[in-house]
Amino acid sequence: MPAVSNRGKAMPDSPIRKLSPLAEKAKARGIKVYHLNIGQPDLPTPPQALKAIQMIDRTTIEYSPSEGIRSFREKLVHYYNRYKIEVEADDIIITTGGSEAVTFAFMSCLDPGDEIIVPEPAYANYEAFAIVAGAVIKSIAANIEEGFALPPLEEFEKLLTPKTMGLMICNPTNPTGYLYTREEMNKIRDLVKKYDLYLFSDEVYREFCYTGSPYISAFHLDGIEQNVVLIDSVSKRYSECGLRIGALITKNKEVRRNVLKFCQARLSPPLIGQIAAEASLDADPEYMLNNYNEYVNRRKFLIDGLNRIDGVYSPIPMGAFYTVARLPVDDADDFCAWMLSEFQYNNQTLFLAPASGFYTLPDKGKDEVRIAYVLKKEDLAICLKILEEALREYPGRKIKIAEEEAIRASLS
Ligand SMILES: Cc1ncc(COP(=O)(O)O)c(C=O)c1O
Repeated sequence: MPAVSNRGKAMPDSPIRKLSPLAEKAKARGIKVYHLNIGQPDLPTPPQALKAIQMIDRTTIEYSPSEGIRSFREKLVHYYNRYKIEVEADDIIITTGGSEAVTFAFMSCLDPGDEIIVPEPAYANYEAFAIVAGAVIKSIAANIEEGFALPPLEEFEKLLTPKTMGLMICNPTNPTGYLYTREEMNKIRDLVKKYDLYLFSDEVYREFCYTGSPYISAFHLDGIEQNVVLIDSVSKRYSECGLRIGALITKNKEVRRNVLKFCQARLSPPLIGQIAAEASLDADPEYMLNNYNEYVNRRKFLIDGLNRIDGVYSPIPMGAFYTVARLPVDDADDFCAWMLSEFQYNNQTLFLAPASGFYTLPDKGKDEVRIAYVLKKEDLAICLKILEEALREYPGRKIKIAEEEAIRASLS
């Protein structure tokens, strides 16, 4: 039998999906599984997009231009202008989801062996896409105690080598919901400028910033316009994960030339997806506001509820629709698997994503999980109850409830 590739073997398992077989088995046993593991928004897609799909009147579903449909890219310029991101249609290349935009960014800017620095926990597929490009991720851990703020710049500088080509950030961040401040973004800019690095900036959650503090795009940073490669997607902002439409945006012509060659090799981004995504740009402000308010309410409800459970701690995420919470368990991977395979509460259980998969650093996130608040509040209330009961019963609970009660009694 021929050997399979080492590159394939090095690909990480998705922390979001690796427990799916256990969830399927639980469902087959008749247990209702609440999915908080995956960032699949449950809110409706804009009616304009659905209508555009229904109205498609073509005899052939043909390829579109490799860089995407011109009218869509032109319309996107106005969308970005609303966020004071000054770009032209030629700076925008449409991709098959933000996923392909990350892959093409790495393939176009990095050679095998080149390094990029990524603050962790990070979106797990950055590592996967780096492996595809033969690039190496050097990680710095952000800490739950500091709410996952940007680690000190000296930590980044320690990791610089002649092979370092860039930084990868996600703002607001998946999986922690952290939103970088102006000060942090300026520090990133200074580093990028000083060492002439690429700044790969994944901003697919820009629509979801909750604190009133401003969203700072990488394109708002002066003096690094040629270094920025912005990653975008319609998956989250319009609840359109299945359209498979994203974008890579850069003012760097050399990078664009490379990206376009990868685009031409894969021929075309999805035509139907682009038609629907273009129509989504006409989504009513009310639609956007309703979805936004829904996430604001869920965020408060979930984080309050989590922090009320004994031994659980979650910082308050400032954006996206995730949080990384610390649980009083020996091993969050085991706990999440146990919830799906051995536990049920009133014939229900929870599917959470163990946070270890969002770190490449060893032993990080062992007692953390990522929770996506992509269910309505009534369901989140049930999920919180299930979690509380599961933590009560879990044999690997770090501190037993009785011990906790004893500690509390001794303090009072
Ligand atoms: C931070 C981040 N970037 C990129 C993506 C990729 O999204 P898509 O390929 O659906 O556009 C995701 C999806 O979850 C994400 O969370």
